Amino acid sequence: LTSPPLQINRTSHHEIHTSAASSAIWASPLNNYQRKSVNTIRSRSLSTETTWNESSLPEKIKSLDEYKVLYDFSIKDPNRFWKMAAERLDWYRFPTKIKNTEFDYRCERGVDIKWYEDGILNACYNCVDRHIEHDHSTAQQVALIFEPDTPTESRHHVTYGELLRDVKKFANVLKKHGVKKGDRVTVYMPMVVETCIALLACARIGAIHSVVFGGFSANNVAERVSDCDSKIIITSDFGVRGGKCSPLKAKIDQALKMKQCSAVNTVLVFQRNHGMPEMKDDCADLRSSLEWKDGRDFWVHEEMEKVNEICEPERMNAEDPLFILYTSGSTGKPKGIVHTTGGYLTYTNLTFKYVFDYNPGDVYMCTADVGWITGHSYAIYGPMSNRATTVIFEGVPTYPDVSRYWNIIDKHQVNIFYTAPTAIRSLMAHDDKYVTHTSRQSLKVLGSVGEPINPEAWEWYHTVVGEKRCPIIDSWWQTETGGMMITPIAHAWELEPGVATLPFFGVQTKLFDKATKKPLNPPNSGELCISDSWPGQARTLYGAHERFVDVYFKQYPNYYFTGDGCEIKENGYHHITGRVDDVLVISGHNIGTAEVEAALDHHDHVSESAVVGYPDPKKNQGMYCFVTLKDDVEETEELRKQLIKLVRDMIGAHVTPDFIHFAPNLPKTRSGKIMRRILRKIVEPDISNLGDTSTLTDPSVVDDLIKKCPRTK
Ligand code: WT7
Repeated sequence: LTSPPLQINRTSHHEIHTSAASSAIWASPLNNYQRKSVNTIRSRSLSTETTWNESSLPEKIKSLDEYKVLYDFSIKDPNRFWKMAAERLDWYRFPTKIKNTEFDYRCERGVDIKWYEDGILNACYNCVDRHIEHDHSTAQQVALIFEPDTPTESRHHVTYGELLRDVKKFANVLKKHGVKKGDRVTVYMPMVVETCIALLACARIGAIHSVVFGGFSANNVAERVSDCDSKIIITSDFGVRGGKCSPLKAKIDQALKMKQCSAVNTVLVFQRNHGMPEMKDDCADLRSSLEWKDGRDFWVHEEMEKVNEICEPERMNAEDPLFILYTSGSTGKPKGIVHTTGGYLTYTNLTFKYVFDYNPGDVYMCTADVGWITGHSYAIYGPMSNRATTVIFEGVPTYPDVSRYWNIIDKHQVNIFYTAPTAIRSLMAHDDKYVTHTSRQSLKVLGSVGEPINPEAWEWYHTVVGEKRCPIIDSWWQTETGGMMITPIAHAWELEPGVATLPFFGVQTKLFDKATKKPLNPPNSGELCISDSWPGQARTLYGAHERFVDVYFKQYPNYYFTGDGCEIKENGYHHITGRVDDVLVISGHNIGTAEVEAALDHHDHVSESAVVGYPDPKKNQGMYCFVTLKDDVEETEELRKQLIKLVRDMIGAHVTPDFIHFAPNLPKTRSGKIMRRILRKIVEPDISNLGDTSTLTDPSVVDDLIKKCPRTK
């Protein structure tokens, strides 16, 4: 099929900007870097001469020195740096204005963030079409490798050509159902190829997707549907995780019975693994017993047959919203984080390329669900805009056994693997043989994201999984930041266990003292803020700009407040210490719960721990430690004493756990985060006020904890 945008782009030269830099990536990576010698920067302080032509960004960051030169440039001249970064994308109109941002809520303009504001582009076009247009053979390159929950089930590979066809068709299905540019579309899907198709199709027609993680309850869905006023929902009949079939469409039915959702008039339902023969009995039952409302509910496979394969990408302004993604705030309603098109795509594209040192042909795997920002930025937009091959894994790390990740890595020859510390910790609690009996020779880079990775987990990941061959990319960022902010760059510099190292290009960090609100000069520890805007930053909270300003810009005027604590060391390395709201103040001492956890995790018998404070009339707060022991370790009084001593020894005698509670399981969200909020309520104790526990993987864990907690007696 001939692709309409190709002709349009190529004939109107002054209008489309096809980047020289991006075509060079696919042709011969080094040429672009070596060829030009204009205006070479020489960094004088270096023993080896670093050269970089100032006219386009280098293909790779090869050393700390190269990083420093480019970093300084990105801070001194953000307009030129981010213009060059934008050249990695294809634009219908290349922006003439690059940065136009204001962080100071006190000035007349107020907090206002705009990047590339007169640029015109389409995110889907940049993730799919253009790769094929630049090089027709890309139509045959695998874009997505689907790895189903059960390893023996049929898996399939989707090429860029097939993906383009399906995205166009599904985009036409959306259009047929009345979806227009700017409409919000709620997506409630498992981790499957069809989810990528749905998101890219929304982006293609300029609809704003709002993905709600498939583990969220009907209540949560309803709340998010009504907050952004979406009239259409894309879902699947069911999802499969850890051998269990979980209903999705049925939860949507439940949500749609609530009055917040009365505006929803269309539900498009994918059949999971449509056309595949195998199906578990419980799944088959679920499919056959679905409620169906004619005129509202439609099977996607039937709708796809009624549309053609011609669908022009919508021309979007760089500042048109690309998606909304809800994150839980510390209180109240979830926050609808808004990301826009040009800046977000530029930022995820560049971070993905540099941080993972992605090279054409590499197979990449991110274990995060598309329901989270990591899935958006680093399973879809970052990799696909770089023409990567990505493994989409439906399942969990422990099913059918704890070798699952390592087996997938061998099966698909994964080169770059990105996961979360919680997964690493749960896997390292088992015998190393579950790792070492696999090959893992394909691995080049290992990533970690989502929470601080304790040095023990880092070491295990590095030594046992990566056999010391692979850098550990401990990347710190947030839903609000769109992409990685403080992170190693693969192969560029020395790493330290549990240390996120250095800020990405254009990211300026600043520490503040929590009590005095004064800036601190590194080396020091304090609350982490960012001094100036970067393109991937969230622009607002959907329909709640004032709250956006309150939460992120009022704590420290003129700065973006991250909510995290950070230590900047002598060598400039940044060590994220955890949420600042997790700091305990005990007898006048500030104690980071993450620090105590790191100490506990240090013990050979400990798999994982979570430390929370409770009100204590004498000490202000007391320290309560939940500790999960490794397989077959006995809970003894002796071990309890050892752990208390270990904490005192490692941090200081003023840091003494008041309670050590051995807990086989901790309450976790589906993304693997320990819900400290619930633990705090248990030990306070305020168990009548636990709040919403529906998002936990296993809500019964909470009852077990309450029963065993001495403070609830
Ligand atoms: C919070 C953001 C980043 C995408 C997934 C989570 C914590 C994240 C790290 C890290 C220490 C980390 C922070 C941050 N966090 N990555 N490498 N080291 N802490 O996105 O749900 O918006 O959570 O996760 O506390 O503020 P999120």
